Amino acid sequence: MEERIVSGTAEMNELYEEQSLRPQTLKQYIGQEQVKNNLAIFIEAARQRGETLDHVLLYGPPGLGKTTLAAVIANEMGVQMRTTSGPAIERPGDLAAVLTALEPGDVLFIDEIHRLPRSIEEVLYPAMEDFCLDIVIGKGPSARSVRLDLPPFTLIGATTRAGSLSAPLRDRFGVLSRLEYYSEEQLTDVVMRTADIFETAIDPVGAGEIARRSRGTPRIANRLLKRVRDYAQVRGNGTITYDVAEEALELLQVDRMGLDHIDHKLLKAIIERFRGGPVGIETIAASIGEESGTIEDVYEPYLLQIGFLQRTPRGRIVSGLVYRHFQMEVPAE
Ligand code: ADE
Repeated sequence: MEERIVSGTAEMNELYEEQSLRPQTLKQYIGQEQVKNNLAIFIEAARQRGETLDHVLLYGPPGLGKTTLAAVIANEMGVQMRTTSGPAIERPGDLAAVLTALEPGDVLFIDEIHRLPRSIEEVLYPAMEDFCLDIVIGKGPSARSVRLDLPPFTLIGATTRAGSLSAPLRDRFGVLSRLEYYSEEQLTDVVMRTADIFETAIDPVGAGEIARRSRGTPRIANRLLKRVRDYAQVRGNGTITYDVAEEALELLQVDRMGLDHIDHKLLKAIIERFRGGPVGIETIAASIGEESGTIEDVYEPYLLQIGFLQRTPRGRIVSGLVYRHFQMEVPAE
């Protein structure tokens, strides 16, 4: 699969770079108001009681700030955060090593928690419920199980697909929070804040144009900002104005709705080869030479979100919005 500037998934180095941009407190964290309001109460209550925060599951599309929010929670609780990920934990021993290294009250952040092997999940249950670990030592008839006490901790799990978490694991989280796509206004605030950290001059209309093309996703907004900043420096006088943002984003082939050439290819294929649909996903996949899974997981979610594509029992159809977007005539039927 090719790399896209409008992908919500982090590129190499990006996770590392994002750390320097990260807000430290709930107050500094832009957007996700409902989630923040709830968390603020749970955090304050736990602090007043001198207890750890309940385990938290954060879910939602990539790039919306799950890792950032986890770090903010740890900071607000005044504890350290340890980070690992589902695919990084292959054996029970890997999890045991992480858990036994925790200090009382710490946050353990497990990214992509839906990719944790089932055999590991079973080790996690008693750890989450009773802060203990049952480990088997030895093999065969002499094998025995020992119980290890763990310090109390808060597990924060992050996933892009809450549906692929097993029910017993999901049930062990006291707080389930779904992150939503950001509004243009919120993303404008994110862009202005990041530009401030970069010490880049930007006017709010320029920031607004970057925000508009960022698919509701702060990670994309920050990525586009970096590219527009380069353009402003080389082709302009360093300041990001509306015109500079517009020219830079045209050059990057990110259109006014944040669509790139892959979105165009998909939408145009449905219009030109299948009269706008309905057409089955497998047929689309064969037609543009992509796997149907990639189309469903990567290409479609944003197009569905903005109402450009619709899923029907008879297949995908493009909406009138797409014809208007491409300045094509909307078909009569
Ligand atoms: N940078 C990326 N996401 C952010 C957010 N939600 N708030 C503040 N800064 C951010």
